[in-house]
Amino acid sequence: MANIFYVGIDLGTSRSSIATSTGKRISTISCVGYPKDVISRKRVGKDYLFGEEALENRLSLNMVWPLADGVIREDEKSLEATRLVLKHIIAQAISEKQESDKIYVAIGVPAQANINNKKAIIEAAKGFVDKLLIVSEAFTVAYSIDRFDECLIVDIGAGTTDLCRMHGSIPDEDDQITLNIAGNFLDGELTKAILKKFPDVQISPQIIKRIKEKYGYVSDVSEPIKVTLTKRGIFAEYDITDILRECCLKLTNPISKAIQDMVGTFDPDFQEKLRNNIILAGGGSRLKGIDIAVEKSLLEYGGGDADCVHDAEYCGSVGALKMCIEMPEEYWEKI
Ligand SMILES: Nc1ncnc2c1ncn2[C@@H]1O[C@H](COP(=O)(O)OP(=O)(O)OP(=O)(O)O)[C@@H](O)[C@H]1O
Ligand SMILES: [Mg+2]
Repeated sequence: MANIFYVGIDLGTSRSSIATSTGKRISTISCVGYPKDVISRKRVGKDYLFGEEALENRLSLNMVWPLADGVIREDEKSLEATRLVLKHIIAQAISEKQESDKIYVAIGVPAQANINNKKAIIEAAKGFVDKLLIVSEAFTVAYSIDRFDECLIVDIGAGTTDLCRMHGSIPDEDDQITLNIAGNFLDGELTKAILKKFPDVQISPQIIKRIKEKYGYVSDVSEPIKVTLTKRGIFAEYDITDILRECCLKLTNPISKAIQDMVGTFDPDFQEKLRNNIILAGGGSRLKGIDIAVEKSLLEYGGGDADCVHDAEYCGSVGALKMCIEMPEEYWEKI
């Protein structure tokens, strides 16, 4: 008898994750690497590598990051890479699939993904997905934690921060805002600030990301943060306590401002409830002190309550999986 596999996917700029009805959870970096030349083809022994494996071998590879600012880039290479990422992550999660089995997939995309992007995803999924549901990312977060009452979801990703006001029905267009200020933006600011204070230290995007993820904070106080970096290969310690906080605030201040806007333009009878039900999700919600910083920014509005989701890595894909299982027929895309 044919089985139906239900699958939820969070297709992210930096990471993509998948959750299946058979209980699998896999997360991977959203990139594909193609061998640069005949030597690198020999070294890697394959036509392309994915995710972590690609990143580890990046010196031999031409890396393609198919998503930018949360949406699929529209050039051929990116479309192909998106297809490979989807195919690869699904194949990894559903290794037991038989020929006659069906795969139904719900994919979370940024609220403002346009029609071309939805088309691109439908194209990318053709051939290995039997039914497809395209859903708004922030909405998948609400679904994963069963929050359909008044609350504000703030999904802080790598390319975008998506805010979505929930009020017990499908969110409207004006319930959603997308900011291009997110993890990648913070990486850029941190790179500039470190190089300004310590010219000639050697940093790479990976080093910056590691520093940010390990030490980043927006609380008022912190112990001194000293990182070891090199200058022409020579190690030394550098104190980045202050610049790290200043950079992180450049991320959280605009997010707090957007939260204030979302609250301030909501039905006044429900503003208090919204203020007290702010849910921070996405990788950026792991930034130390971000919940308290958001709450503080709401003090002059009467205070607020912000909480980070417990499972920033999988809540998008788990929510998408729930939607995939529950959604009535008319919401599905035709493939
Ligand atoms: N502890 C941490 N502190 C700060 N930032 C973090 C932390 N952990 C992860 N991040 C950042 O979160 C971002 C990744 O989050 P997430 O996986 O939600 O993004 P994405 O879904 O790939 O992106 P998008 O939603 O924009 O497409 C990266 O920029 C990553 O560096
Ligand atoms: Mg995301």
